[in-house]
Amino acid sequence: MTRTVIVTGGASGIGWEMCRAFADLGDEVHLCDLNPPQEAIDAVTVHALDVRDEKAVAALFDDVAASAGHLDVVCNNAGNGSTTNVLDCTAEEWDAVMAVNAKGVFLGTKHALRHMLPQQDGAIINTASAAALVGVPDRASYSASKGAVIALSRQVAAQYADSGVRCNWLNPGTVDSPWVGRLMAQAPDPQARREQLVARQPMGRLGQPAEIAAAAVYLASDAARFITGTGLVLDGGLTAR
Ligand SMILES: NC(=O)c1ccc[n+]([C@@H]2O[C@H](COP(=O)([O-])OP(=O)(O)OC[C@H]3O[C@@H](n4cnc5c(N)ncnc54)[C@H](O)[C@@H]3O)[C@@H](O)[C@H]2O)c1
Repeated sequence: MTRTVIVTGGASGIGWEMCRAFADLGDEVHLCDLNPPQEAIDAVTVHALDVRDEKAVAALFDDVAASAGHLDVVCNNAGNGSTTNVLDCTAEEWDAVMAVNAKGVFLGTKHALRHMLPQQDGAIINTASAAALVGVPDRASYSASKGAVIALSRQVAAQYADSGVRCNWLNPGTVDSPWVGRLMAQAPDPQARREQLVARQPMGRLGQPAEIAAAAVYLASDAARFITGTGLVLDGGLTAR
């Protein structure tokens, strides 16, 4: 059976590579994002979606599930960065980060479950971050939002462990995505900033978006059928120190 896969934040970086990886396996892939994709991927359907909008999320998931007859994999990956400490983080910034990273993942998980529980099968993979596992300077709202992703995913996994639906999450470290590229470009000395980020990596390099996508493919696969409530850390050893 061809699996039906939804990826949010699929237009760029990690999400784009997830779409490509699932499409390479022959899955029916639905790329959802606020923005158009960085590059078209053969046979992938593109949808404009704001993950903060519950009506839009529900309608899109309903349409995809109705036309395919099933919804097998949902990767709630859309995310918003933030680089402030608690003192500099405004209440507005806090709400904006939480709206995408925490509420967006909650909505994607909720509406995935509405389709997956009746079919007693499905895999939900939420993108958290290594920044929720260790204290990273200048990531106050971001780290908190990713902590929410982990706690929600664990709760969902526990609640529905006997339902056939699995829920796991990814904890990437620093990955060389367009978002991190933009962060480096904004630094006074972008090359020095890159070298600084690489220097803190035990493996001596940043992660690649495709390396994170490969973990999503694994967690969605039958090889991971006994895994629920788990986060995979993909950080080149950063949090192992
Ligand atoms: N790059 C890293 O170092 C890193 C590390 C840990 C976790 N992550 C997480 O990985 C995920 C992907 O990040 P990335 O590095 O590929 O970034 P990216 O900016 O390249 O991609 C993120 C995508 O999310 C989309 N998006 C943002 N808000 C949205 C919304 N409201 N609705 C729909 N789509 C929206 C963006 O348009 C973009 O295409 C994020 O959740 C991020 O927090 C990234």
